[in-house]
Amino acid sequence: MSKVTPVDEEYIYEGRVIISQTDLQGIITYANRKFCEVSGYTAEELVGKPHSIIRHPDMPKAVFAKMWDTIKGGQAWNGIVKNLRKDGLYYWVDSEILPILDDDFQVTGYIAARKAASRKDIKENEELYAKMLQAEAQEK
Ligand SMILES: Cc1cc2nc3c(=O)[nH]c(=O)nc-3n(C[C@H](O)[C@H](O)[C@H](O)COP(=O)(O)O)c2cc1C
Repeated sequence: MSKVTPVDEEYIYEGRVIISQTDLQGIITYANRKFCEVSGYTAEELVGKPHSIIRHPDMPKAVFAKMWDTIKGGQAWNGIVKNLRKDGLYYWVDSEILPILDDDFQVTGYIAARKAASRKDIKENEELYAKMLQAEAQEK
């Protein structure tokens, strides 16, 4: 888990593709320059760490459970994710996560490509995630 304290302020950035790659366990194996810029970490700080290093507490568990089910099953997952920067600010991404397959169609890792999410998608998902988070808190 990350020790970053969330700050209720959005980090705004321009488009361009944010890329990361992980192994089968979700440990980061590659981070492009845009990912470093948007997350606030250097590539050295990211590589070798679990991808949950940028997990935001406002994200419901169920979203990641569904995501893992989908990509482990060999399918692509698309979704809007709120992430936590190193400085505590949050940023929204419109993500596509895909399994990387070898010549025998075995999954060897995962790759994520993201861009800035639209204001409409952010608003819709912010409301949905707040309800999901509330439901998850009541299940405990
Ligand atoms: C390629 C790839 C990209 C991911 N990108 C993110 C991301 O941007 N933000 C995030 O919170 N989790 C991301 N995850 C999911 C994390 O591995 C993790 O499941 C999630 O942060 C929830 O943390 P937890 O499993 O410790 O509860 C990604 C996973 C993979 C395989």
